[in-house]
Amino acid sequence: MILLVGATGRLGGVLVDGLVRDGVPVRALTRSTDAAARLRAMGVGCAVGDLRNASDVARAVAGCTVVVSAASGFGPMGSSTPKSVDRDGNLNLIRAAAAAGVRHFILVSMHGAAPDARLPLLRMKHDAEQALRASGLGWTIIRPTACLETYLDVVGGPIERRRSTIVFGAGNVPVNFVSVKDVAALVRRAIDDRTLRGRLIDWGGADLTLNELSSAVHATAGTDGKTTRIPLPALRVMAVVARPFSPFLARMAQASVIMNTTDMTFDAAPEREAVGGLPWTGMEEALAGR
Ligand SMILES: NC(=O)c1ccc[n+]([C@@H]2O[C@H](COP(=O)([O-])OP(=O)(O)OC[C@H]3O[C@@H](n4cnc5c(N)ncnc54)[C@H](OP(=O)(O)O)[C@@H]3O)[C@@H](O)[C@H]2O)c1
Repeated sequence: MILLVGATGRLGGVLVDGLVRDGVPVRALTRSTDAAARLRAMGVGCAVGDLRNASDVARAVAGCTVVVSAASGFGPMGSSTPKSVDRDGNLNLIRAAAAAGVRHFILVSMHGAAPDARLPLLRMKHDAEQALRASGLGWTIIRPTACLETYLDVVGGPIERRRSTIVFGAGNVPVNFVSVKDVAALVRRAIDDRTLRGRLIDWGGADLTLNELSSAVHATAGTDGKTTRIPLPALRVMAVVARPFSPFLARMAQASVIMNTTDMTFDAAPEREAVGGLPWTGMEEALAGR
């Protein structure tokens, strides 16, 4: 039995569909009773609970041989935060997995995870990685770059209502983006392929600018290129003043400042070649699947 934490998320959704399609027994840990009902109807076992609660986690992991952690507290997910989920929640899960005799723990971390990273999320991911590596569990750490579909949704969010895209900052700095489908394919490979145990794999796609994402959204929608821009100084202010009323908006603004002022390019080809045989989904295909 595989425990999948984050089954209701963008990556988890692709993973759970594939596992169910292939008849692989899977259990999800989710906080949502509605989501649990939907998952159960698909044939997924469910534990309703919170990664931040050690006894919920212990209950969810009992009887599982593989754990996949694809959860994050970065998004607009109630009271979850990177500290409470990406670090402390994963620490709960690692402890519970070790106590339950789990054979293999796959942690979805993030490219750039480091103790001194500018983005707090990346520091929390680093702490979880360290805990997993020290746990005695069999492990694989997957570090995707920015999710292509997530950013196409952000940039293209207003396209239907206002025939406009939205770009945070100048939008001319290249950033590495990887499709969620390609990350899911690597997680699936890691579940079955013992040669990926004990490996930390940075997983990326193409370097693209937000302006390129915006143009692609307009081309697909047949719209005329109207773009709303949030200037960098406004993002810097938002990253601070939004904290009390929308921690998510503040996190997004901070991440956008970093995206506009840091080299986030990445050569994905060497790891792609080393793992071999997995899909490389381009922007057109990702857009077509929206
Ligand atoms: N999006 C990106 O650009 C990106 C880039 C690199 C790496 N990643 C990593 O890839 C993984 C998947 O990301 P995603 O974008 O697919 O995530 P997502 O869509 O934001 O989904 C987040 C998931 O985390 C779960 N979650 C949040 N708080 C929780 C809590 N307290 N207890 C239990 N579950 C909780 C949610 O489950 P419920 O709401 O059902 O409880 C949801 O399924 C994450 O580890 C993320 O850090 C993402």
